[in-house]
Amino acid sequence: MPLNLRNRSLLTMLDLNQRELLYLLDLARDLKHAKAAKTEQQHLKGKNIALIFEKPSTRTRCAFEVACFDQGANVSYLDPSGSQLGHKESIQDTARVLGRLYDGIEYRGFDQLAVEELAKYAGVPVYNGLTAESHPTQVLADLMTMQEYSAKPLHEISLCFIGDCQFNMASSLMLGACEMGMDVRLAAPSCYLPSGEMEAIARTQADRYHAKLTLTENPSVAVQGVDFIYTDVWLSMGEPESAWKERIQMLKPYQVNRALMESTGNPHTRFMHCLPAFHNLQTKIGKQIFEKFGLEAMEVTDEVFESEASIVFDQAENRMHTIKALLVATLGD
Ligand code: CP
Ligand code: NVA
Repeated sequence: MPLNLRNRSLLTMLDLNQRELLYLLDLARDLKHAKAAKTEQQHLKGKNIALIFEKPSTRTRCAFEVACFDQGANVSYLDPSGSQLGHKESIQDTARVLGRLYDGIEYRGFDQLAVEELAKYAGVPVYNGLTAESHPTQVLADLMTMQEYSAKPLHEISLCFIGDCQFNMASSLMLGACEMGMDVRLAAPSCYLPSGEMEAIARTQADRYHAKLTLTENPSVAVQGVDFIYTDVWLSMGEPESAWKERIQMLKPYQVNRALMESTGNPHTRFMHCLPAFHNLQTKIGKQIFEKFGLEAMEVTDEVFESEASIVFDQAENRMHTIKALLVATLGD
């Protein structure tokens, strides 16, 4: 069967099967090479893309914008302060307006139901740029980066996500990695491991694609021999600041530090993070946490973040190449 992603939305990792994911990763690699070689062809000329951000963003917004510019498309950026969305106009009505004007819509917000509602009523492809439940465009970049840093095919790669395993990053990465047939491990205290419902969905994907899925409270068991260790912030956008104290207490033993990297027993283990990361005192929140709790770094130490093992900026760059592939595959000529 020829592969056709035309007019498809990406709302969760479940929207793409293994073959489609591999196709997007190949396309992203080709587009990355073409840009470097200055031979990139434009496939989105005359297309208009709306970028809705109800939460802040550096990478996702810029990745969508640069991908569109490179491919000849135009973008409009909308945030809650500058649009009617949420205050005076429902998602349903906004979707029907934007669907008349734009060829595609990126949406970052709070509830997964909002992006699903947008896709239901817009009549054009909708791309989830992050909700509390899912962050699929990040996972495309993460899979591409793992391919670049490993001589093995994805289905032979092992990956451990450690930290808050109940939020968007852990859920989407767990699904994406299971869909690629990988050895997938998640480590957290039991109250921060994926919910029974998320685990069941991931196990279905793991069975389908012959992945190995392990959920454990034991960090050193989880990282044994692993190729990649991945973490995310301990408190995500939209969560109450009052939760910091409990998060820090619960997740401190799951910090990615030198001891954890060494406990893999694999000298080639790489460190990954979707960013932004709290690894030093150079941010306002980082300083506040230090003053209140005495922690100089949270989910990852500065030593690991700045080490040779860290591939976080490759991930950030690959956001653009993979989002470009998604746009070209779904909307391109
Ligand atoms: N990783 C990621 O989504 O970053 P931004 O919040 O900067 O978009
Ligand atoms: N879990 C984080 C991811 C940021 C890219 C958040 O939702 O804030």
